[in-house]
Amino acid sequence: YHVDWDASAAEKGGYDYFMLKEIVEQPRAVADTLLGRLSVDGQLTLDEMRLTPAELRSVEKIVIIACGTSYHAGLIAKYAIEHWCRIPCEVEVASEFRYRDPILDQQTLVIAISQSGESMDTLMAVRYAREQRARVLAICNVNGSTIPRESDGVLYTHAGPEVGVAATKTFMTQLIACYLIGLYLAQVRGLKFGDEITAVIAQLATMPEQVEKVLSTVEPVRELARSLSDVDTVLFLGRHVGYPVAMEGALKLKELAYMHAEAFAAGELKHGPIALIEDGLPVVVVVPSPKGRSVLHDKIVSNIQEVRARGARTIVIAEEGDESVIPYSDVLIEIPAVPTLLQPVVSTIPMQVFACELALAKGNDVDQPRNLAKSVTVE
Ligand code: G6P
Repeated sequence: YHVDWDASAAEKGGYDYFMLKEIVEQPRAVADTLLGRLSVDGQLTLDEMRLTPAELRSVEKIVIIACGTSYHAGLIAKYAIEHWCRIPCEVEVASEFRYRDPILDQQTLVIAISQSGESMDTLMAVRYAREQRARVLAICNVNGSTIPRESDGVLYTHAGPEVGVAATKTFMTQLIACYLIGLYLAQVRGLKFGDEITAVIAQLATMPEQVEKVLSTVEPVRELARSLSDVDTVLFLGRHVGYPVAMEGALKLKELAYMHAEAFAAGELKHGPIALIEDGLPVVVVVPSPKGRSVLHDKIVSNIQEVRARGARTIVIAEEGDESVIPYSDVLIEIPAVPTLLQPVVSTIPMQVFACELALAKGNDVDQPRNLAKSVTVE
């Protein structure tokens, strides 16, 4: 009696690559990161952070430090934290931070975002911040790793182990952790929980389903990616929280497909990048929600028209039912309607699938991209 059993295939849950498995695990990762922290009545419980409400009330400035994909989570967090908490928030790549004499004191809360908890650049920035007497809160996916051990407090993401070098489910849970921290800060600082915040909290609880929904509709993205495996360059455009999502889309394409990819804030297009547009160039655009909430929506629709008029192939990621983009989209990818600040949770997924599939079409190993390491423990 013989059973064909391949240990490595079993570990990958039947997928050829860990990355594919980790992309589909995202609804669970998001649910696990919310678990026990967000109650049905919208109350947040984050006592585990080890920072007292008094400490959180004394914060006058937030500085987020991180590398790579974690840095993009930080960029998104800035929009949410400043809007909800009205605390000034800077975001910086960890490798630059301590070399420029940053302004830090006891009223500064430094948030260090690191999946592994071991990135040397982030660790050195944490040590520097603590020497300057700032309080440091880590967002981390690996229990007991160095960065949370050396920080004042920690909020763990519960994505489970991530094997693929390019971060996917950990990024998604970092976003969730950032939202939780932003909302919690607003709560402990006694900011009035207006209708918007109440609605966001309710929507945050539905994120696992929204992520599931996007995953069930991304099949056309795979086809699209396969059809583009010969192109040399892809540009990404976004505004507001869609800009860091565009940056993450471009990073994934570099890491996995070894292609030139670059993201621009769509408003900057006219200040230079539009000169790059030529016939057939794929341009991926993240469109903000249309529902009267975002003045940026119409501006970005104009940008799509502009690049298309110059020959670009437009790949448009927009909210379902947003008919205004149909005439200008060569390919339209629909995502569920969610509050603007939460949109990255759903708009990032087509980016991950796009890069992964394009890399596979080129024959690349998406779990072990060339020259990259899962955690970089040198400066
Ligand atoms: C490496 C990985 C990236 C990751 C970055 C930060 O460069 O290849 O995927 O985003 O490190 O890692 P961290 O563990 O600190 O989030």
